[in-house]
Amino acid sequence: MKVVLTGANGGVGRIIQQLAPGQSRMELAAYSRQELNILDKQALTDCLSSLKPEYLINTAAFTHVDRAEKEPEAAFLLNAGCLEGMAEACRKTGTILIHLSTDYVFDGTKRTPYTEDDIPAPVNTYGASKRAGELIVLSYSRGIVIRTSWVYSRYSHNFLAAIPLLLRTRSEPLQVDTLQVNSPTYAPDLVNALFTLAREGISHGLFHFTNTGGGCTRYDFACHLREMINRKDPGAALAQVLPMHAEVQGGAPRPVYSVMSPAKIAALTGITIPHWKEGIENII
Ligand SMILES: NC(=O)c1ccc[n+]([C@@H]2O[C@H](COP(=O)([O-])OP(=O)(O)OC[C@H]3O[C@@H](n4cnc5c(N)ncnc54)[C@H](OP(=O)(O)O)[C@@H]3O)[C@@H](O)[C@H]2O)c1
Repeated sequence: MKVVLTGANGGVGRIIQQLAPGQSRMELAAYSRQELNILDKQALTDCLSSLKPEYLINTAAFTHVDRAEKEPEAAFLLNAGCLEGMAEACRKTGTILIHLSTDYVFDGTKRTPYTEDDIPAPVNTYGASKRAGELIVLSYSRGIVIRTSWVYSRYSHNFLAAIPLLLRTRSEPLQVDTLQVNSPTYAPDLVNALFTLAREGISHGLFHFTNTGGGCTRYDFACHLREMINRKDPGAALAQVLPMHAEVQGGAPRPVYSVMSPAKIAALTGITIPHWKEGIENII
């Protein structure tokens, strides 16, 4: 099975590159932004017509949530506009397009996990641009959208992945947000789900994938992580974790609750999805 990957140097892209060699009969052609710019429709078309892959996994995106407020045109172009050309290139070769989206398409007013049937109502530009992209991919008969959230691994450049180092190096307590409730997603679990969809020959649909366990706050995540380091290395000098009940000022608005249910993808593929606490030991 030939698979083309775009955005190969990003957090999810790196994990795809790491795990693809373990997949029998998967031949991965991975492209960073420098090697294949998804804004360049002709380059995408040329790449797909020469390789004729069964799947294109697009992890390239405008992912800076706060910057998207100041640069909405760039966010919409990368997260939505250019996907028309990507879908068209895929259509020519019959390639199935697997595209990643986000829990930030929801407004966060629910208090039970969002399902694929819930109506998106983004509260920020990033979420709106990702929602526009979803609609383009889903209008392609061989388009798959997987919404995920709070993705972390050793390669991620986000707060969750940074917590172990912060705990080990800070002399001051680490103040962590208790307001936003979300589903952490260990990147290798997400990638295994993507590979399973491909192996099963799924060719269209909208799916949620996050770890199970009903979500948590960043504070819960940091406390659990600290406890795990303590258990592994009881002598470790670690910063304290303190709850921060205030909103981060000046950034894009974010949904307060955006836990998603991965029940649909689990039922379709039969995969067992780990609890969010299980991935943590791989990053401590
Ligand atoms: N990480 C999360 O918590 C999270 C949560 C929900 C949804 N998602 C979605 O999951 C997907 C992957 O996220 P991620 O965490 O891997 O993001 P990431 O680490 O920010 O990686 C995105 C990649 O896209 C590349 N890129 C940017 N512009 C490009 C272009 N014009 N052509 C080709 N590549 C381009 C970037 O290249 P440079 O490195 O050169 O800039 C970067 O390597 C995205 O669709 C994101 O919206 C992520």
